[in-house]
Amino acid sequence: MSDAVIRFGDEELTLPVHVGTEGEKGVDIGKLRSSLGLVTVDRGFANTAEGRSSVTYINGEEGILRYRGYPIDQLAEETSFLEVCYLLQYGELPSKTELDDFEESITRHTLLREDTKHLFEAFPHAAHPMQILASATSALATYYPDKLDPLDAEAVDISARRLIAKTPTMIAWSYKYRVHQPYVYPDNSLDYGSNFLNMMFSVPAEKYVADPVIVKALNMLLILHADHGQNCSSSAVRLVGSGHANIFSSIAAGIHALSGPLHGGANQAVLEMLDRIVASGQDVDTVVKRAKDKDDPFRLMGFGHRVYKNFDPRARIIKQAAADVLDSLGVDDPLLEVARQLEEVALEDDYFVERKLYPNVDFYSGIIYRAMGFPTDMFTVLFALGRLPGWLSQWRELSADPEAKIFRPRQLYVGPEERDIVRVEDR
Ligand code: SDX
Repeated sequence: MSDAVIRFGDEELTLPVHVGTEGEKGVDIGKLRSSLGLVTVDRGFANTAEGRSSVTYINGEEGILRYRGYPIDQLAEETSFLEVCYLLQYGELPSKTELDDFEESITRHTLLREDTKHLFEAFPHAAHPMQILASATSALATYYPDKLDPLDAEAVDISARRLIAKTPTMIAWSYKYRVHQPYVYPDNSLDYGSNFLNMMFSVPAEKYVADPVIVKALNMLLILHADHGQNCSSSAVRLVGSGHANIFSSIAAGIHALSGPLHGGANQAVLEMLDRIVASGQDVDTVVKRAKDKDDPFRLMGFGHRVYKNFDPRARIIKQAAADVLDSLGVDDPLLEVARQLEEVALEDDYFVERKLYPNVDFYSGIIYRAMGFPTDMFTVLFALGRLPGWLSQWRELSADPEAKIFRPRQLYVGPEERDIVRVEDR
């Protein structure tokens, strides 16, 4: 591969170019500042790779997404979420024995300590579930002080399994506290998804059996959200981990990053947007017009993506699943039709076509979550549950990387020149 050459003034610097598995090229600017006194400015790191990763491949132009080389549509159809949790972290799909052992180890760690109930009960009933989940995830670190060393492989492995095992329980218990219902304990006879749904929706007064349609849809949705390379929240997890913070603190940082409406919080924002459209009787043309108006802060939530400039393969799968799940459940949600109309109008509009704005993973997912019985402000914790194995795999990859360095970007200072203090009495 030929090198890259940067000319600055009468100086010239030759920089090596590395090539990825799928032919992506990356110029190594490690010597840029020491040789030419230059730093790069790249808002939002849109053109910058911090390093190499073997976890997930995304081709935004062709709408390709693969976890450890496996296409997302095959994984969504053929595997279980725990298989994907294993694949993302260990790099290979588990054998039957490996999967049985992994499932067993997750099942054995689903219980929370009784005193964590005080944590949930310290919050207002109306507290946002993402704030509670981030706090509870941080709190887990205080229960396992001997398993926090990021360089201790055994400690990292058990902590990762505890997080996968206990996050559904934390989500469900925070929900039960909010709706003033008794906590439901994990049931080790149930599979991962059924156990979560049971903890969420069962009540002592009657038998609860999770609808297989919902269990299957949940499994698929968790897989579709499981990883996505160096997105905002995964980058937050890596950044916090780069300082050798423990895995619980790093994942909590990812949860906070995901909560933003430009990122994972978009799935909640989409439903609220669709609800407002139906409630106001606004027609979709008016909504699309507002989304294009630079003087209007309104954006079409669930549309656009930093990487996908063709289509988000996950959105296509979820759109079809939304129709199938609602049909199977006998749910007639007018929001699905409004979403379809919005997509149709937007995809024929030059503003969206020129900017290559397509529905992303968040555009249709909330419609399914709502049909499954989840409240709107819990959609993003469902995204977090799905993304957990991705965060763990990204964090573990960085922690195990001998060339990893603490994240410490440069800046271009544009503040005041040097000046002397004037004492307060003289100001
Ligand atoms: C996720 O990175 C990942 O992988 C994330 C994710 C994952 O799995 O981790 O895929 C999950 O976060 C999906 C994205 C969810 N967010 C939303 O749906 C919020 C709405 N979308 C946007 O705000 C926006 O599209 C982003 C944040 C997703 C991407 O922002 P970029 O890449 O920084 O693009 P941009 O803001 O610079 O927009 C480019 C142009 C601008 O117009 P111009 O200045 O060129 O005239 O497109 C416009 C934007 O105004 N634009 C939109 C729009 N999204 C971009 N205009 C109207 N509605 C939108 N939704």
